[in-house]
Amino acid sequence: MEPLIIGVLASGRGSNCAALLHRIEEDEIPAKIAAVISNNQYAGVLQIARDNSIPAYYIERNQFETGDEFSQALEKIFDQHKINFMVLAGYLRKVPPRIIRRFANRMLNIHPALLPDFGGKGMYGHAVHEAVLKSGSTVSGATVHLVDEEYDHGPIILQREVLVLPNDTPDLLAARVLQVEHRIYADAVRLFAEGRVIVEGRTIRILDPCE
Ligand code: GRF
Repeated sequence: MEPLIIGVLASGRGSNCAALLHRIEEDEIPAKIAAVISNNQYAGVLQIARDNSIPAYYIERNQFETGDEFSQALEKIFDQHKINFMVLAGYLRKVPPRIIRRFANRMLNIHPALLPDFGGKGMYGHAVHEAVLKSGSTVSGATVHLVDEEYDHGPIILQREVLVLPNDTPDLLAARVLQVEHRIYADAVRLFAEGRVIVEGRTIRILDPCE
C-alpha cells in the first residue's frame, strides 16, 4: 500500500497540523507530512513546519496574475514532494477546483461542528460556535470530511460529539471542540493511511483493521 505523503494547507496557528504530526512521530500513522503551505506568511503553522524541518511555503492567490498560475505553483510543490494526500487544517481560502480534482477522495477538511449543520460559506472560527450557542443545541462536535467543490459538503469520514454546557461561551465551546478535532483528524488520516476507507459516491465505508 502506497504510504501517505501529506501536504497541509492552513491559514492559522496550526494546532491540528501539530496534533497530526505528533501522532505520525509516535509511529501511530504510517504517513509523513512532506510540505506545509499557507496563504498567511505569519501563520503559526509555518513556524511549526520549520521547527520540524518540514518544507514550509507561503503562497497566496494574489501573488499570481491568474488562478491557473496559482494552481500551477501549488502543483509544482505537490509534484516536487510527491504529495498524494491533502489535509486542510484551518485553510480559509477556497481550494482551486483543479487541485480538488487532483486529490479527489484524497483531500480532507476538519470543521468545528456537526455537519451538515453549522457549515457553509462564512461558517468558520467563532461564527460557528456562536451559531451553535444561539441555536440552543445541547451538542456540538467536530467533523472530518472529504473535500468537494462546495464548502463543508463532501462525504463525512468521522464525527464526534461534545456537550454544550449551560455557561458556554464561544471560546469555551471552541476549546472543547478543538480537543476532539485533534483526535479525530489524526484518526481519520490514519484510516486512509491504513487503506480502510472505501468511498462509493457519498457513501463511506470504514473497514475493520486487518490483523
Ligand atoms: C479549527 O477549529 C478547524 O476546525 C477549523 O479551523 C481551526 C484551525 O485551527 N477549520 P488550527 O489552526 O488547526 O489550530
